[in-house]
Amino acid sequence: IEINLKTNTNITPPSYGLFFEDINFSADGGLYAELVKNRSFEFDKPLMGWKELNKNTQNQVLIINRSLEKINNNRYAHIVFNNDKKTFQLMNEGFRGMGFQQNESYIFYITAKTKTPDISLKIDLLSADDQSLGSATLTKIGKDWKEYKVTVKSNANAEKGKLAISFVGNGSIDVDMVSLFPQNTWKNREKGLRRDLVEVLNELQPGFLRFPGGCIVEGRDLLNRYQWKNTIGDINDRRLEINRWNTEFSHRSAPDYFQSFGLGFYEYFLLSEDIGAAPLPILNCGMACQFNTGEVVAMNELEPYIQDALDLIEFANGDSNTKWGKLRTEMGHPASFNLTLLGVGNEQWDVQYIERYAAFEKVLKAKHPEVKLIAASGPSPDGERFEYAWQQLKNTKVDLLDEHYYQNPEWFFKNANRYDNYDRKGPKVFAGEYASHIKDVNPAEGKNSWLSALSEAAFITGLERNGDIVTMASYAPLMAHVNAWQWRPDLIWFDNLKAVKTANYFVQKMYALNRGDKVVDILINQKPLIGQDSLYASSTINQTAKKLFIKIVNTKSTAQQVLFKINGAKKLNLLTEQILTANNLNDFNGIDEPDKIKPLNNSIYKSVKSEFKKTLKPYSFTIYTI
Ligand code: AHR
Repeated sequence: IEINLKTNTNITPPSYGLFFEDINFSADGGLYAELVKNRSFEFDKPLMGWKELNKNTQNQVLIINRSLEKINNNRYAHIVFNNDKKTFQLMNEGFRGMGFQQNESYIFYITAKTKTPDISLKIDLLSADDQSLGSATLTKIGKDWKEYKVTVKSNANAEKGKLAISFVGNGSIDVDMVSLFPQNTWKNREKGLRRDLVEVLNELQPGFLRFPGGCIVEGRDLLNRYQWKNTIGDINDRRLEINRWNTEFSHRSAPDYFQSFGLGFYEYFLLSEDIGAAPLPILNCGMACQFNTGEVVAMNELEPYIQDALDLIEFANGDSNTKWGKLRTEMGHPASFNLTLLGVGNEQWDVQYIERYAAFEKVLKAKHPEVKLIAASGPSPDGERFEYAWQQLKNTKVDLLDEHYYQNPEWFFKNANRYDNYDRKGPKVFAGEYASHIKDVNPAEGKNSWLSALSEAAFITGLERNGDIVTMASYAPLMAHVNAWQWRPDLIWFDNLKAVKTANYFVQKMYALNRGDKVVDILINQKPLIGQDSLYASSTINQTAKKLFIKIVNTKSTAQQVLFKINGAKKLNLLTEQILTANNLNDFNGIDEPDKIKPLNNSIYKSVKSEFKKTLKPYSFTIYTI
C-alpha cells in the first residue's frame, strides 16, 4: 500500500460534528440535568409524573390555570393539607427515576406562596424502595410568589430514586416550578447540564453542533413545530411543548415526553461555545414532519418563518443595540456566538420544499451573505420516491445539501466510493445524519454492534477522500436513555447515573482526533483502497504538526499482513498504532458491559522506515500516526 505525501490536492477531510436532537430523552431526562418531570404541571395531564400520598378531602392538590396572567406557564398547584389526617406528600418519579450519587449535593427549588406562614416543607431524596437518602426542610414561606431553595446531600447511589415533598402543618400553599438539580453540573452552572454527559461530548472535540434536530424541528404539525423564540429568556416563561417523539409513531411510545426547553437555543449556543463546536441551528421552513401530518404553510404565510431566521441571526450575532442581540446580552452573553451556518428545514423531500427554500435563500443571502445555508433535502432512505427535491437542488447553487442515510452495513461498505464521482461543480454535502443499522425486531432498531461501527469506519474513509465535496459529517442520533428510547442505534447510551460510549463513538473519536488538514493518496496497485482485499483506507497529513495519519479498516475475518510504502518523506519519526477491534461482530457496549469494545492501548515504535510491514487484526480499524 503506497502513501504519496506529495499528493497535489487541497482536500481537507470533513469536519466531524454532533447531531443533537431531543429524541430518546436526550434533553429532558438526559443532558438537561433537571430531575423533576413535569415541574410546572404543564403536561397535558397536569399531575403526570407526580403521585399524591395520603390524599383525602383535606389533603389534596388543585390545579389552577391563570392563563391570562401567565401566558406561557399557565398552571400552578394549590395544595391543601391538614396533618391531623397524616402528612400529605407529593412524590415525583423523575425521568424513569432520578439519579443520585453518594455524597453529591442536590438543590431543590420551588416557587411558592402561602397564607399560612407556619407551615413547612420536608424534602427527601428517596431510593427506589422509598428509603430516605437525605432530607432538608424549607420554612418561612411568604405570601407572595418567590423562589426558595435548599440543598440536600445523598448518602447513597440510586439510579431510580425519587423526590418526596411532605407538607407539614395545617394550611395551604401554591407551588410552581418544582425543581431538583445536581449541584455538580457542567461548568457548575446553576440549573445546568449533566456534567458526565457533556464531558463525553467534549471528548469528541466536535467541529460543529447541529441542534435541535431532526424531526423535532418540523413537529408533528405546524402548531407544534419547534420555535426557537419559545426556548429563550427566563426558564419560568418558556412554554412547554409536546415532543415530536411523544407520538403513536414511535415504536417505544412515551406519553410523558414533553420539551421544557430548559435546554433551549441560548443553552445550545453556549454548549457549542464550551466544546469548541461551530453552532449549527436548523429551523422549520414551513413544513411539518412528513411522517405525521406533513402539512405545509401557505406560501403567502411563510414570511414569519423567514423572519424567525433573520431574528435568530441577530440573536446569535447582533450587538446589544439590536433587539435580539440585547436579549442575548441580558441573558449573560454580550459577545457574539459567531453563527455562520444555518439549516433550512429537515428531511424535506417533497416538491413543496423547493419554493419554500428559495424564499428563505432569497432573503437570507441578501441580508446575510456571511451565513452558509444548508438545504434539507438529501436523498431519502426510501430511495427514489422522494428524490425529486434532491435532484432539483443538486443543480442549484445551495451552499450545502444535507444527506441522511440510515442503512445496513453492506450499504456502508458499498458506498465507501459514494462521492468519488460526484459532480465537483455541484453543492457541497453535509452528511448530517447517518448510522449503520442492523435490523433487529423493528425497522430502525438495531444494536450498536461492532459490525455497524466497522462499516461506518470503512465508509468514512470515503468521506475523507472526498473532503472537497463532503465538508461536514455527523452520526445520528447522538444520545439515548437506556430506559426511554424511541430509536436505535445511538452514539451514546446513558442511564440516570452513567454514560456508555459505543463502538461507533470510538470510531467517531478516532477520526475526529486524528483529522489532518490535507488528504493524500493511499493506493493499492495505483488505485484508491476501497474494498480491495477487504481493506478500506484514507490518509491525511497535518501540515503544521508534520504528522501523517493512515486510517485502515480490515473487514476480513483473518489478520492481514500489509507492506506500507511512504513516498515523499525526507525523514520519518515515531509511529503510533491505535487499534479498535472486538472479539465478535455482534459485540456491543451495554450499560452492564460498557467497556467491551474500546481502543487498545497505543503501541509506539521509535523508529520507522519509509517501508514497513504491519499485521492488521481481523475485523479491525487501525490508525497509524507518523
Ligand atoms: O435521527 C432520528 C431521526 O431520523 C431524525 O429526527 C430525522 O431527521 C431522521 O428521520
